[in-house]
Amino acid sequence: MKNTIPVLSALFFSLGASSVAQGAEGKPDVLVPYRSSTASEQARVSTESRMAWWHEAKFGMFVHWGIYSVPAGEYNGKTQPNSAEWIMNRGRIPIAEYGKFAAQFNPTQFNAEEFVLRAKSAGMKYIVITAKHHDGFSMFGSKASSYNVVDATPFKRDVMKELSNACQKHGMRFGFYYSQAQDWHHPGGMGNTWDKDLKRVSTDEYIREKAIPEVKQLLTGYGPIGIFWWDTPRKMSKESMDGLSSLTALQPGIITNDRLGEGYPGDHQTFERKIPVEGAAGQNWEVCMPISGSWGFKSSDTSFLTPTTLIRNLVDIASKGGNYLLNVSPTAQGTLLPASIERLKAIGEWMKVNGEAIYGTTASPFPALPWGRCTQKLTASGGSLYLHVFDWPADGKLTLPGLRSKVQSARLLASGQAVAAKSAGDSMVFSLEGKAPDAIASVIEVKLSEPLQVAALLPAQKADGSIKLSVAIADLHSEVARHATLKAAGDVWAADWLHPDAPLSWQFKVTKPGTYTVRAVVSGAGGGKLKVAIGASSAVGEITREEKGAKRTVVLGTLTLTGAGVQTLTLTPENAGWTGFRLHHVELLP
Ligand code: GLC
Repeated sequence: MKNTIPVLSALFFSLGASSVAQGAEGKPDVLVPYRSSTASEQARVSTESRMAWWHEAKFGMFVHWGIYSVPAGEYNGKTQPNSAEWIMNRGRIPIAEYGKFAAQFNPTQFNAEEFVLRAKSAGMKYIVITAKHHDGFSMFGSKASSYNVVDATPFKRDVMKELSNACQKHGMRFGFYYSQAQDWHHPGGMGNTWDKDLKRVSTDEYIREKAIPEVKQLLTGYGPIGIFWWDTPRKMSKESMDGLSSLTALQPGIITNDRLGEGYPGDHQTFERKIPVEGAAGQNWEVCMPISGSWGFKSSDTSFLTPTTLIRNLVDIASKGGNYLLNVSPTAQGTLLPASIERLKAIGEWMKVNGEAIYGTTASPFPALPWGRCTQKLTASGGSLYLHVFDWPADGKLTLPGLRSKVQSARLLASGQAVAAKSAGDSMVFSLEGKAPDAIASVIEVKLSEPLQVAALLPAQKADGSIKLSVAIADLHSEVARHATLKAAGDVWAADWLHPDAPLSWQFKVTKPGTYTVRAVVSGAGGGKLKVAIGASSAVGEITREEKGAKRTVVLGTLTLTGAGVQTLTLTPENAGWTGFRLHHVELLP
């Protein structure tokens, strides 16, 4: 989102080179075979080589499946708030009561191979499934606790084993989610504050008796495990954390997330339900998101994301250099609802045509593009840019601002049809014919015949001196702002700007010095004081709260632009009384 992209192409070679091997598409991946190893052996498998397949993959399936799919969000005739896998907690259901769902868990329609093939045809390259969620029920034949799918349900099948086998057969990477700290069933697990019959033991004891043996079993008895996905970090003894963490060395090449506990950053960051405004260069990150409202199956949940949102999310995340882990929620019969199946199919169809613009790509070298997103596979001598067009231009002219390198050729991935490119000043203009081949995202591959060069293009004042600076092109000066969410609201991109310690700034070209009214266009219920400054001129304006959160334009003050040239406008929230709202853009009016 930087609007100060250096003209240097070197930066982009290094991004390209640190990315990944290409061309695994279509072919089954070569899986790292399981073998026991020592910690030092594990250390030798460098982070970069361990992460290579994951970067290539870009898209995975998350699965929340457990005995909570039996009540499916309803308890005692009431729909429980929140995500369905939290029902035991939200409904304050005693262990003995909740355990009855195990006796009813009989997913006779479950077919591991069908399941894996569904993910595969959606274009997903890995699966991460809940081996044990906070409820403490083990979805595999646990040797540490009989409260598991083999010993405590009429189904008696080790569904994790079946999935692991199916994944190996179909070239799908396989990973486990494991809730290591919370366990509402074990007397030493964290989180159960309602069960009065629970005779408490220490957390260390729970880790020793249950978590460690279970994690060890998962990492030694289930074939090659690509990912270990910890959840809900809590304060634990160092001994417990080290004990858990060291187990991952049992699978050389395994990737872990950042949710084991403080001081254990893992290999990648996790963003839950949110797409960050921008991805930090050189960091590994993944957005996990349910396909509807709940992670676990909830019968009343009909809030499925549309195929448009899902596909554009995947594109948006790839354009920022991240991975997308999309969650589905099997029912107590072991099936997915048609609503999920249809959406997976829609993504799969799009990926069949456009997958090469996702797999193995790295982050866009451009600041926000008004019509869509960009991903890239750049090389030292050129390589490809992929333009994902969300809004097909009515006049057939698609402008890529800042592209200076020579274009060798351009074509639509959907049809192979050539697209003419013509440079116009500091931009490249592509001539598109007819209608968009895909209403969700049409992809144009642009092959460069020389190293990438991008001009730093700054927004400039219009002839009357006015200028509109959108949040999408703001420079963000804190992690907090970077992690805020971008949401599409019509064609306006707006950010939840929730933190008073996160200034935003814009560089822009001043061509008409003078006195200007500065206004902010905001929405959302919150409010607070905002300081706006350009050079030595500043003012403080107040966004008043608005119960309904309606979109409103607020005058922040009057500022003077002194000389012509590049200037910086900075917006700084004042801490006192601040509550977050959504900022769309700021504008200067003569
Ligand atoms: C949270 C929730 C959990 C869900 C997870 C997915 O940690 O507690 O229910 O499994 O997020 O990211």
